[in-house]
Amino acid sequence: MDAAFQRCIFPACGASVPLRDTVFICPKCGGLLDVAYDWSRLAVPKSFGDFESRASGRGDPLDFSGVWRFRALLPFAAADKIVTIGEGRTILLRADAVARYVGLAEGCLFLQYEGLNPSGSFKDNGMAAALTHARLVGARRAACASTGNTSASLALFAAATGLLRAIVFVGSGKIAYGKLAQALDHGALTLQIAGDFDDAMRRVQEVAGKLGLYLVNSVNPFRLEGQKTIIYRVLEALDWQAPDWIVVPGGNLGNVSAFGKALGELAELGLLKQLPRLAVINAAGANTFYELFERLGLRWKSGRLDKDLIGGFYQDMANQGKRAATVASAIEINHPVNLPKALRALDRTNGLVREVTDQEILGAKAHVGAGGLGCEPASAASVAGVKKLRGEGVIRIGERVVCILTGHALKDPTATIAYHADKAVQTANDAEQIIRAIETHS
Ligand code: F0G
Repeated sequence: MDAAFQRCIFPACGASVPLRDTVFICPKCGGLLDVAYDWSRLAVPKSFGDFESRASGRGDPLDFSGVWRFRALLPFAAADKIVTIGEGRTILLRADAVARYVGLAEGCLFLQYEGLNPSGSFKDNGMAAALTHARLVGARRAACASTGNTSASLALFAAATGLLRAIVFVGSGKIAYGKLAQALDHGALTLQIAGDFDDAMRRVQEVAGKLGLYLVNSVNPFRLEGQKTIIYRVLEALDWQAPDWIVVPGGNLGNVSAFGKALGELAELGLLKQLPRLAVINAAGANTFYELFERLGLRWKSGRLDKDLIGGFYQDMANQGKRAATVASAIEINHPVNLPKALRALDRTNGLVREVTDQEILGAKAHVGAGGLGCEPASAASVAGVKKLRGEGVIRIGERVVCILTGHALKDPTATIAYHADKAVQTANDAEQIIRAIETHS
C-alpha cells in the first residue's frame, strides 16, 4: 500500500482502496472515500512556519500556487506530476462595513475571497488536485455535472494544461451566464441536460462509469484535498490563530467536508489545538441539509447514519414534487452527495446549519459589494447566515468570524442587475439634465 491511499469514510467498513483507483465509491459498502495518509511514512510539517518560507518562493510554480505550497498536507503526488495554473492565490480581508451590517464588532469579520481564482471560484483549489490525480492515472477525458462553477473550472484547467478533454453536464436553463460562457469559451464539450443539477449528477455518474471518463465532481476525494487549502490560507492570514467560526454556503457539501477534514488532520498532527466551529448556510429554497440536521436531528454518530430517516426525507420530497429553487443557482441542489462527510465535519467542529431566504442572500450580497468585494449570490449566503446567527445570539458580538466568498460577482451578472436595476438613474442625453441628476443623487 502507498503512504497515500483511499479509504471508506465509515469506520465500521474502513475498506482501503488503491491510490490510483478512479471509481470513488467504496467497493465493500458503497460509501464515500477519503484520501488517507500514513503520516508516519511522510514528512509531516512540524510547525506552520514551514509553509511561510514557501510563500516567498514565487519562482517555483508549486510554491506560487496557494494549493501546492501546502503540499505536505496533501502528499498524494510526486512534485513532477502536480498540475497547477496559479490557483489559490486568494486573500482574507477584514470587512468592517459588512461586520456592522451583520452585527459584529469592528475587526471581527473577515471575508475569504475565493473569487480571485483563475476561473473565479473556489473550485480551482480542488480542480488542481483532481487533475493531478487524473494525470497520475493517465486519464484522457474528464467529466462533471455542475451548477456552473465546477464546469467552468474543469474547462479552464483542461484548456490551460492540454492534459485532457473536458465534458460538462449542466442542467438546462439552470446555469448563470458567466459560468456557461466560461465552459463554452474554454472549449469544453457542454451538454445541457433536460433537467436540473441532480439529474445531471446522476447521469454523469452513470455515463462516466460506462465510458471510463474521469469524474471531477466532489465525490472525487482528491478534489476535496485541494479544497482543504482554503482553510490553511485562512489560518495563515490570521497568524495561525483559529477564528471562532468559519461560515460557508452549502450545496453539494464538498467544501464543508474538505474543511472538516483539513481541521481534523491539523488537530491529529498536533498543529492546531482549538478548532473553529463550522457553520453551513443553505438557501431556504434548497435546504436539504438544514432540514435533515436541524429539523430532523440527523447526526454522524461515528458513521452509523439513520438511513431510514434520510430515505424517508427524500421520499417525502419526491411525493410532494419538491425541487430546489433559489436565486443562488450555484447551491440549487436537492441531494447533496457529500451528506455523510458534511455530518462528520459538523461533528468534529461542533458545527451547525442555517437557512436564509433569497431576499436575505441578495441583501447580504449588496453589502458585500458596497464593501468592495464582488461575490455571486451563493457566496453571500455565508454573510446572510452570520447575520442570522448574530440575531439568534449563537455567534457573539466579539467573536472572530470568517465567511468564505466562494465565487466572483461576474459569474452571475443577471442576479446583480435584477437586484440593482432601479438604482441606475435614467437621464436625457443632455448636459444640464445630467448635471441635475448628479446634484440630486450625490
Ligand atoms: N458557492 C459556489 C459559488 C458554488 O459554485 C458552490 C457549488 C457552492 C458555493 C457550494 O459548495 O457544493 O461544496 O457545498 N457549486 C457546485 C458546482 C455544485 O457545480 O459548481 P459545495
